[in-house]
Amino acid sequence: MANSPLKVGVVGMGGIGRTHCRAYVADELAELVAVCDLIKERADEAAEEFSVPAFYSLKEMLAAFPELDIVDVTTSGLENGSWHYEPVMEALDAGKNVLTEKPISNNIIEAREMVDYATKKNVYLGCNLNHFFSEPADIARQYIADGKIGEQIYCINKVGFNGSVIVPSDIDKNSRWQLPYSHAKAFLTHPFSVMRHFCGDVTHIQAFMDKPGPRRQGGDLMLSIQSIHMKFQNGCVGYLLSQRGDAHFGLGGWWSFELAGTSGTFCIENCVEQITYWELDKEPVVHNTGVTDFGATFPIRIHAFLEDITNGVPKEHIRASGRDALATMEYIFAAIDSFESGGQIVRPHALPPIHGDCRIIK
Ligand SMILES: NC(=O)c1ccc[n+]([C@@H]2O[C@H](COP(=O)([O-])OP(=O)(O)OC[C@H]3O[C@@H](n4cnc5c(N)ncnc54)[C@H](O)[C@@H]3O)[C@@H](O)[C@H]2O)c1
Repeated sequence: MANSPLKVGVVGMGGIGRTHCRAYVADELAELVAVCDLIKERADEAAEEFSVPAFYSLKEMLAAFPELDIVDVTTSGLENGSWHYEPVMEALDAGKNVLTEKPISNNIIEAREMVDYATKKNVYLGCNLNHFFSEPADIARQYIADGKIGEQIYCINKVGFNGSVIVPSDIDKNSRWQLPYSHAKAFLTHPFSVMRHFCGDVTHIQAFMDKPGPRRQGGDLMLSIQSIHMKFQNGCVGYLLSQRGDAHFGLGGWWSFELAGTSGTFCIENCVEQITYWELDKEPVVHNTGVTDFGATFPIRIHAFLEDITNGVPKEHIRASGRDALATMEYIFAAIDSFESGGQIVRPHALPPIHGDCRIIK
């Protein structure tokens, strides 16, 4: 017998919340049943667009729909993450499965608590780490599985926003961004998640951060450039370059990830667009997907979350889990530590054990 669709309520009706709603409406594994925003007009507008009731607090939504299977949290906040903790914890407390936007939180203590609480409540916690939910990423994983990369030697990830003509008057004085690590905390979760997806856990991190002259002259507090060197548990070394529109990207466009190994090398360009594979003495194999819209990653990632729950995948094995999101935040906080200590090597804080803590006797 086919499973009935999972009932979903979405919290936070900004542009991203509505993108999530569209994905649920189009997905046969889901039934969008309610939307919620603290701002009445935003909730009402979305309710009209998706023909579902509007709520102005998660509490009311949970009370009206106790049968909800999933609460999807698409709020934002300082550094695009400070408004995630409260609704996520409230939904977990109600025993709901939760998908949250990235970064899981801008606060590492809160991020750890969220992952821990989902484990205690025995529910699914996923994060919208959508940058590796694409056709090129699937092809790349197949190259790795087929032994076409071999022993991993190095990876290089260049990502951010294209630009290079910043003038002081262009600088966004919105307070959400006027914090030194706002770009690092809001954005680096994506490249770190991609690097970890392909190369595994990171053991050492060294970071330099800066901002270009026009940002300094404009009084911008945000450090918009990150140059991060790392070592993975599998012995691979990696380099991550991120910037927020301070320069034009060259080869690979706004998003490129190259992984080189003893048997071959692949490079994904512009996230969703193209993957090239090189093998010694052979012509490169180029696969262009024909997809140019990065937005295509959202329905794929959301479908994966729905599929993992529908199929009863063990909670520790879902794709882009809360723990995976926590890993990226541990790397970001390690990078901040490294930068603040003048470029010293920092070992990221250990992640919670996957199968529970064996030292706790129940
Ligand atoms: N995965 C991606 O590719 C991607 C891309 C862009 C943004 N994002 C993330 O998506 C999130 C949302 O971004 P956005 O631009 O739509 O934000 P936004 O600020 O436009 O919208 C957030 C909404 O949440 C509402 N809200 C806040 N706290 C609430 C609460 N407790 N209950 C109900 N509503 C509440 C706000 O009123 C606001 O309308 C951010 O975390 C951002 O980092 C992800």
